[in-house]
Amino acid sequence: MKKKIVIAIDGPAASGKSTTAKLLAKKLGYIYIDTGAMYRAFTLKALSENLLESLLVDEALLHQFVANTDVRLSDAQVWLDERDVTADIRSNEVSKFVSKISALKAVREKLSAIQKKLGEAKGVVMDGRDIGTAIFPNAELKIYMMASARERAKRRYAELKAQNADLDVSLDTLEAEIRQRDEEDMNRTVSPLRKADDAVVLDTSSLTVEEQVERIYQLALEKINCSKE
Ligand code: CDP
Repeated sequence: MKKKIVIAIDGPAASGKSTTAKLLAKKLGYIYIDTGAMYRAFTLKALSENLLESLLVDEALLHQFVANTDVRLSDAQVWLDERDVTADIRSNEVSKFVSKISALKAVREKLSAIQKKLGEAKGVVMDGRDIGTAIFPNAELKIYMMASARERAKRRYAELKAQNADLDVSLDTLEAEIRQRDEEDMNRTVSPLRKADDAVVLDTSSLTVEEQVERIYQLALEKINCSKE
């Protein structure tokens, strides 16, 4: 039987990680794990319960919130306390506040433990911000995906428009929000976004999705074929 590996894909907001990771996993027959979806689900709950501000300052409340929040991924669905929130977590409102919640140590500790467990059996493609640095520092293949902020804003704009044709947000605003989120993700104390030393950088500004998938797929095959065990 072929050796299974862990593929960690990190990078800034809207750099194409999840689209690429999903297709790559399918091509390899691997499981895809979207760790951003987990942070988004926590954020959705904090926003809908109007707790965001309090969670940032009230440690006891935060611990209670984390203990009472259950996030689960199943195939293409995201479950929050047994409710399907797959669509709701993609709102621009959640995108705007997710970096505040993901910077909280208690939240990261809970979600990191789940993510490590999910990757234990290998055969996974996991995307996020700290997969190659903190979750799987020994991943056989690490990719750092990036693209210019303008290009990323254009992609996110098209994605949001496809979900809601009446979307009332400008490309400039989206670009500013994306830059702000990167800034917060890169400068937090716990597991900030950074390229792992041994990650392969993939600038996707002028690549198609198919090209991105193909490049990583070839790298993955090299690792699979040369891995011992
Ligand atoms: O899809 P997009 O690039 O917009 O973001 P995402 O992957 O859904 O992640 C949303 C947010 O969750 C990020 O901006 C981070 O604040 C946080 N996140 C994180 O801190 N660590 C991860 N491993 C994944 C996401």
